[in-house]
Amino acid sequence: MSSRPLNLRTPGPTPLPPQVREALARDMINHRGPEFAELIRECTAGLKAIFQTQHDVLILTCSGTGGLESAVANLLSPGERILVVSIGYFGDRFAQIARMYGADVQMLSYEWGQFARPEDIAARLERDSRITSVFVTHNDTSTGVMNDLEAIARVVKGAGKLLVVDAISSIGSVPLPVDAWGCDVVITGSQKSFMIPPGLAFVSISPAAWDKSRAATMPRFYLDYAQAKRWADKGTTPWTPAVSLFYALRESLRLMLAEGLEQIHARHRRLRDYTREGLRRAGVELFAPDSHASWTVTSARVPDGMTSKELRGRIRAEYNIVLAGGQGPYEERLFRVGHLGYVAEADLAPVLEALATVLGEAPAPARVG
Ligand SMILES: Cc1ncc(COP(=O)(O)O)c(C=O)c1O
Repeated sequence: MSSRPLNLRTPGPTPLPPQVREALARDMINHRGPEFAELIRECTAGLKAIFQTQHDVLILTCSGTGGLESAVANLLSPGERILVVSIGYFGDRFAQIARMYGADVQMLSYEWGQFARPEDIAARLERDSRITSVFVTHNDTSTGVMNDLEAIARVVKGAGKLLVVDAISSIGSVPLPVDAWGCDVVITGSQKSFMIPPGLAFVSISPAAWDKSRAATMPRFYLDYAQAKRWADKGTTPWTPAVSLFYALRESLRLMLAEGLEQIHARHRRLRDYTREGLRRAGVELFAPDSHASWTVTSARVPDGMTSKELRGRIRAEYNIVLAGGQGPYEERLFRVGHLGYVAEADLAPVLEALATVLGEAPAPARVG
């Protein structure tokens, strides 16, 4: 085993800033008391600034998938027709949840590694007027492809449909001005751009989404938006929240707002370029096209002659660097480098060096992309 400190380079959970780790050690408070009311209010205000929205942002105690499920449960009715745009594993998951709840799910699927084309979405909406809502993944973490959400939003809102966005691995690192682009529901998770542990989901809700949710009849209880909002207005949550994560969130939001949204976005864009450039120099074939490469995770092909597990096993054993493997059909064919949240070039340089060394010694030469 390497004696170096662990370098966690998965696309979530991400490493934690020291201020966040200290906040996590604080003692409990009563979540029905004034300290928690102050805490949830500061967290909500900070999230609204990051989401660039004047509307509601709810904080739910669940992972990102709970946030996705909340959108299905709160916005739809059984048998309602929706369009799910999928470019990978997480788009498929959104569809799976909606199907499980009894929605009539129409798919617009792209091959893994491809991005969604707004004109295809426009054509589907034009052809099928029964579709009420479009569900789309901004950045599919499984492929490292980032959709042009601004263009997609223009098409969806132009057609007068509700737009629901899985922004779990994008918002907070990547520009996504929720109100300016007209996104109705935007969902993310705490363990990605927000530099805190897993366990919270953040969901923004537009006035149109509130109207839709009041008429929607899917069953909902734990993740009911109306309940969450009613209690948030009183400075608490309907159910016992993950109090420690709220402490952590307050610290991380202070750090994020001090750095500034534009600076955060610029850093992630720079880290995307730095990682792609370094991997290319190491002779690795990148999976996502340059035009739609993710700012938060870079996916690359494992060279012939080895599996993702073998490659990552060596990188872990020799350098104490943790990379992510592929997902679904690409489990052994891809590896992924996370560069979101609390991360800088200095964290990525050792990763690129390690990969160049290990792949330089690989039995078969790496293919050059
Ligand atoms: C784009 C995207 N959607 C959904 C999820 C699921 O989130 P969670 O694992 O927090 O439930 C993830 C997690 O990696 C993700 O990256």
